[in-house]
Amino acid sequence: MKNLMITGGAGFIGANFVLYVLNRYPDYNVVVYDKLTYAGNLDNLLTVKDHSHYHFVQGDICDTVVVNETVQKYDIDTIVNFAAETHVDRSIMNPDAFIQTSVYGTYVLLEAARKYKLERYHQISTDEVYGHIPPGYSSKETDNLVPRSPYAASKASADLLVQSYFITYNLPVTITRGSNNIGPYQYPEKVVPLFATNALDNEPLPVYGDGRQMREYQYVTDHCEAIDLVLHRGVIGEAYNVGTAVEMENIEMIDILLTTLDRPQSLIHHVKDREGHDRRYSLNIDKIGALGWEPRHTPREAIAQTARWYRDNEWWWRKIKSGAFKEYYEKQYGHRWQNK
Ligand code: NAD
Ligand code: DAU
Repeated sequence: MKNLMITGGAGFIGANFVLYVLNRYPDYNVVVYDKLTYAGNLDNLLTVKDHSHYHFVQGDICDTVVVNETVQKYDIDTIVNFAAETHVDRSIMNPDAFIQTSVYGTYVLLEAARKYKLERYHQISTDEVYGHIPPGYSSKETDNLVPRSPYAASKASADLLVQSYFITYNLPVTITRGSNNIGPYQYPEKVVPLFATNALDNEPLPVYGDGRQMREYQYVTDHCEAIDLVLHRGVIGEAYNVGTAVEMENIEMIDILLTTLDRPQSLIHHVKDREGHDRRYSLNIDKIGALGWEPRHTPREAIAQTARWYRDNEWWWRKIKSGAFKEYYEKQYGHRWQNK
């Protein structure tokens, strides 16, 4: 493993992974292949833009020609696929791009991996593929996939395709299924950066329903370490859950955010719930634990550290929130304020 093509590498987790790899493996070459959708942002990669082992290609993973050209040109031996449409609320408004990218795009990448006999194809997946998890249970990798939003269904479809390429063509694949990541460079449509930046501006925080939904908030660099471990020590053909084993209600996460940023509870506004909202995710992480991984941050530390990053990095998020984001925000939340 030496020449990595990191698709979706200009997004939140992808960019953090690129920074991690270039720092950890000085002899690796990293090619970021990214369409630069609204969520792709080269500011996330500013610190490595002149790095001699870093290259950027703007391209769509659905475009077979450019994908194949890139694999050949850079002598790629490993694809790590982060590219996806990733926001559940947007998938409810319009699922089209979700299906295109995660289903057809994943197929294009798998075909390239097969054609050029790559050493590894790694798929970045999510805990949402398991669907809503009742209290008292944590999902295992062998559980059925029961996705409940168009986003989750697009990701589950990709996982099934990846597994089918292992079984049918013996393609060397691995999959990681992560819980809710937070940290630097997350587009402020996701709850933690949205609420942190709203709070910094003394704007209300639109809490869906009663706010008692449960998530495992995970610091992004912990997730990057887990992906690294699976790339180097994971068993071919296997999926690995990557979570914290500590679940938290959204209202507790919000309390930590507001306390860290010294903002009042009065910013909390309960609004109309998300359609089909999954109440709880919970991952059993014994399998990756057996490889020697554990998260370095508790969810509480991850939330506070993330809040401080947004407080200290207005240069990054102010320009995003002042552009097309405003239109999205009005469309997504305009009706919610009146309509509980
Ligand atoms: P993100 O939305 O921040 O970034 C996605 C990136 O993919 C962007 O840079 C975008 O430009 C690129 N992209 C989208 N469509 C593309 C296409 N057709 N071709 C090429 N590039 C394209 O996403 P993220 O939060 O960093 O998530 C990355 C991956 O991790 C996704 O696969 C997501 O499903 C998965 N995941 C995310 C989380 C989370 O909490 N954010 C948790 C578990 C898994
Ligand atoms: O679980 C992993 C998944 O986490 C990833 O696969 C997705 O790509 C990522 O977007 C995230 O999905 P969620 O739907 O869990 O994340 P989001 O930040 O959108 O919402 C987290 C919780 O906060 C969820 O219970 C909904 C709630 N929420 C969200 C928003 C945007 C609110 O209450 N208000 C909001 O405005």
